[in-house]
Amino acid sequence: RVDHAIRPRHLADYIGQPRVREQLEIFIHAARAREESLDHTLVFGPPGLGKTTLANIIATEMGAGLTSTSGPVLERAGDLAAMLTNLKAGDVLFIDEIHRLSPVVEEILYPAMEDFQLDIVIGEGPAARSIKLDLPPFTLVGATTRAGRLTSPLRDRFGIVQRLEFYAIDELTEIVSRSARLLGVGTEEGGAHEIARRSRGTPRIANRLLRRVRDFAEVRAEGRITAQVADEALNMLHVDHHGLDHMDRRLLLAMLEKFDGGPVGVDSLSAAIGEERDTIEDVIEPYLIQQGLMMRTARGRVVTRQAWHHFGIAPDDRAVDAT
Ligand code: ADE
Repeated sequence: RVDHAIRPRHLADYIGQPRVREQLEIFIHAARAREESLDHTLVFGPPGLGKTTLANIIATEMGAGLTSTSGPVLERAGDLAAMLTNLKAGDVLFIDEIHRLSPVVEEILYPAMEDFQLDIVIGEGPAARSIKLDLPPFTLVGATTRAGRLTSPLRDRFGIVQRLEFYAIDELTEIVSRSARLLGVGTEEGGAHEIARRSRGTPRIANRLLRRVRDFAEVRAEGRITAQVADEALNMLHVDHHGLDHMDRRLLLAMLEKFDGGPVGVDSLSAAIGEERDTIEDVIEPYLIQQGLMMRTARGRVVTRQAWHHFGIAPDDRAVDAT
């Protein structure tokens, strides 16, 4: 993979998320001027919007080292203790999927975040001893799909909390153009725009589609990405004109055809399409909701009138508009 080649390293190269960028610029500048480590930072939002990229940028801008891990990988208290004791002053520790930490590991994190103290029990039974170690000041950057998935004691220990939003089409166009330049593939503005428009508001998807469109362009169109080449390639990839992928369509069609448009509970949907509830809630739904194709209501999920139209099905008289 050559992702590192197109991933921005500095805040100035990070496109979109203007509020996040402005705030981080100020907090990083202030921490640097005081020669302190940056406060612990929680970044949340749907997958692919740049949480890992931001962790990397924070480390670079702070002139600090970066250690990366993820919630499910840290199985035992000792796994986290080992990482914490290897940190140098000012380092960034990035924990992806931080909502999936086990409770025993999370307990270790509290005093580490709050007082830079490591508090662990070694041994068992009568021989068990508790040891305390001072840790160097460090910055924990945690990433999660939804802030609500964190326990409140953990959430409360982050001084900085940033929410990433889906990207606007012009921002994604800029990202695709930048990536195309770095990959050395000739891309017209219209081609970049077509890829951007069909990328679910998500840079990771835009960059992935760019690579596939590049393949298509090299084999079928002399290597140049025009709007028409992008359109043909994306049609071949079954990305529809709204930018919905296979999973999006499956979810919406199940709601329309099996549940009369809803309301339907997420567990019933999960069974109907054979997809985990978490995947539906964290990966598929957020974009469909943002696009006004479906809604979460107290009684369950419902599709909107736009979704009926999208599939060319005449809405029944109960069809609702997005609110
Ligand atoms: N690549 C992925 N996300 C990006 C972003 N927000 N800005 C620039 N390049 C990116």
